[in-house]
Amino acid sequence: MRKNIVAGNWKMNTTVKEGVQLVKEIAQNLNAVPSDVQLIVCTPFTHLCAVNHALIESGCGPQIALGAQNCADKEKGAFTGEVSAAMLASLGEDKARGVEYVILGHSERRGYYGETNAILLEKVKLALVSGLKVIYCCGEELSQREAGVHFDFIAEEIKEVLFALTPEELKNVVIAYEPIWAIGTGVTATSAQAQEVHAFIRKTIAEKYGAQAEEISILYGGSCKPSNAAELFAQKDIDGGLIGGASLKAADFIGIATSY
Ligand code: PGA
Repeated sequence: MRKNIVAGNWKMNTTVKEGVQLVKEIAQNLNAVPSDVQLIVCTPFTHLCAVNHALIESGCGPQIALGAQNCADKEKGAFTGEVSAAMLASLGEDKARGVEYVILGHSERRGYYGETNAILLEKVKLALVSGLKVIYCCGEELSQREAGVHFDFIAEEIKEVLFALTPEELKNVVIAYEPIWAIGTGVTATSAQAQEVHAFIRKTIAEKYGAQAEEISILYGGSCKPSNAAELFAQKDIDGGLIGGASLKAADFIGIATSY
């Protein structure tokens, strides 16, 4: 019933040319991926047009969707350097495809750029109003896990942002659980640790949205790779992955996506 999703978060990597090449390789190997697995490539802003075009050219269809990694918390106006949700949604509006997803709340945005839950609520609302789907990230620091406060922290990240949405809006949200201590470190949460938090997130969503919690896809992120994806994805409440480093190599990204 829930969508299985493998999303690549390219972060600030690749030139436009390299990005186009990467997505072409992913599209060429799509036949290896089960047809019920949705792939998403979340590229830098500068790459979106070219990658969108490459996806159209490849004829791969909707199984590979395009996403951005951020959007502004303001609708429009004098905010130099910002990119609005409406701008993202307008890319490709004259064609069959364009930007469908945006990652919001990544721990790198929260940590390095001071994005609070209040700011993220504005971003999430603007993204949804613009017709984008949101990949909303949450996850704790190692010190919080060691102090035993990680469930409270994650519940706060969920409640202060997602609980402001209507059930209809929540249908366009995917959650990604990314323990900060596992991101880019090579240390993956064990499948049991990840499953425990995923079940907790689903229970938290159910507190407000009831049975709808069964329909929301919850992805795991943090040093996910072809060698550990199958065990993670086999867990009851893990519906796929948000992949950083390993999404930059087509073979690894496809390898993860074939782990279902
Ligand atoms: P990683 O990053 O796979 O390189 O650990 C995941 C993420 O930050 O989304």
